[in-house]
Amino acid sequence: MLADGACLVAPVLHVGDDPHTPEAGLRPADRGLPPNGGGAVQAESMFGRQPVEIAPGAVHTPDWLSLDDQQRLVAACREWAAPPAGMRHTRLPSGGVMSVQTVCLGWHWTPYSYSRTTEDGSPVKPLPEWLAALGARAVGDPSYVPDVALVNFYDDTAKMGMHQDKDEDSAEPVVSLSIGDSCAFRFGNTEHRNRPWTDVELRSGDLFVFGGPSRFAYHGVTRTRPGTGDPATGLSAGRLNITLRVSGLA
Ligand code: SIN
Ligand code: MN
Repeated sequence: MLADGACLVAPVLHVGDDPHTPEAGLRPADRGLPPNGGGAVQAESMFGRQPVEIAPGAVHTPDWLSLDDQQRLVAACREWAAPPAGMRHTRLPSGGVMSVQTVCLGWHWTPYSYSRTTEDGSPVKPLPEWLAALGARAVGDPSYVPDVALVNFYDDTAKMGMHQDKDEDSAEPVVSLSIGDSCAFRFGNTEHRNRPWTDVELRSGDLFVFGGPSRFAYHGVTRTRPGTGDPATGLSAGRLNITLRVSGLA
């Protein structure tokens, strides 16, 4: 039913590595490859997209979700998005609203804390066990039990500024699942929202886990690529992203 990919068990490449040469691990320039690109593009066309460690503890695993998984998640997201405690644009303390629309499971996030009820007092929807189990599979650790999910929907113009996921009282990893249109995901550093960063294309079915030294790295979505999703997932337009987290709250 769920994809049989134990993402962190498979060998993981590092940014710029060419996966199928004995020199993997050398810097691209040492192998006569352009930094972070040419070898990866060539390898992608020959072998498909490979897992890559973007930064210590931050791993991008392409095509981790099967089409069945994606269909199940899209159908579930439709139910979670319905009122009460449904999908809405989050209001920021500045008075603005986020361009993404969000529904929370387990704990409701409002900038910058968690609660058990939404702004209108409705109880937050529960995070189902099957989704928590998917998270455990994603990190390859059965003791990983996420109790919060943020489900974000991006229309064609939505984006997300550089930020840290730091309202959790836990350093357990964040698991991110993407469905629908591709996006440009920017993964930065733990110090500030500026460079250095790595831009990663997240496509439908991709998994991105960030934990360990990268757990509190700044990250954001600079744009989506409208029209790149596969309607067979059940999502005819836009992008869904689900992040699973451990709140550390009781
Ligand atoms: C997030 O940072 O919460 C969402 C990231 C994404 O949409 O890929
Ligand atoms: Mn985030």
